[in-house]
Formats: sequence, structure tokens, C-alpha cells
Amino acid sequence: MKIKRSVVKQSFLVTALLCAAVSAQAQGLPEGDGLQVVVVSCTQCHGLDRLTDIQLTAAEWENALYDMMARGAIVEGQDLAAIRKYLVENFATDRNQPQ
Ligand code: HEC
Repeated sequence: MKIKRSVVKQSFLVTALLCAAVSAQAQGLPEGDGLQVVVVSCTQCHGLDRLTDIQLTAAEWENALYDMMARGAIVEGQDLAAIRKYLVENFATDRNQPQ
């Protein structure tokens, strides 16, 4: 009896921690169309620090995105453009330079 109750309590705690982690992670990122879908699609295997700790050009972001999909990232067709746009507009090192 005692064991069962503590398992329930523990899984509640884990769920609460996970929810807190997701919203805390998103807070570090710039607002924008595509933020929500980036948070959903890009936190299945690693944290968003992977995105913010790296310096990539627009072309490298594009490659990284396809690389992640090859690794198993689940990106719906209509979300692909939004994710690419969000990543390039917010993180590409060459975003402010003429292409
Ligand atoms: C199926 C699992 C998975 C998902 C989902 C995923 N990634 Fe990754 N990602 C990885 C793995 C594994 C690595 C580590 C690769 C390595 O260290 O060589 C990684 C590393 C990275 C890196 C660092 C690459 C480097 O050269 O150091 C970036 C940037 C990245 N991911 C971006 C994304 C983005 C953007 C998304 C959402 C579209 C995403 N990831 C979703 C598995 C995933």
C-alpha cells in the first residue's frame, strides 16, 4: 500500500517537472511564428541549448534540420517551412547579411 502511493506521487512529480522544464526551456528563446513547433519537434532528444549554443549559417541550419529529420525528428510537412524560417531568422549567423 505504502509503496503504491509513493509511486503515484513520484510519477506526478516527474510529470510536473517535465511540464516546468518545457515552458522554462521555451522562455529562453525569442518569440516568433514557429517557436511552439520548434519546442515540440526539437526537444524530443535533446534540450534547446543545442540550438542556442551553436553558431550556424542559414545553409548550415537547413542541413542541421534535415540531419535531425534523418535521425528521427518528427516534423510535419507544413511545419518544416515554419521551423526553417524560425531557425534562420533567429539564429543564423549570417541572418543580417545580404545573401
Ligand atoms: C530523434 C532525435 C532528435 C530530434 C527530434 C532532434 N535532434 Fe538535434 N540532435 C540529435 C542528436 C543525436 C544530436 C547529437 C549529434 C552529435 O552530437 O553528433 C543532435 C544535435 C543537434 C544539434 C547540434 C549539431 C552539432 O553539429 O553539434 C543541433 C543544432 C540540433 N540537434 C538541432 C535540432 C533541431 C533544430 C531539431 C528540431 C527540428 C532537433 N535537433 C531535433 C537528435 C535529435
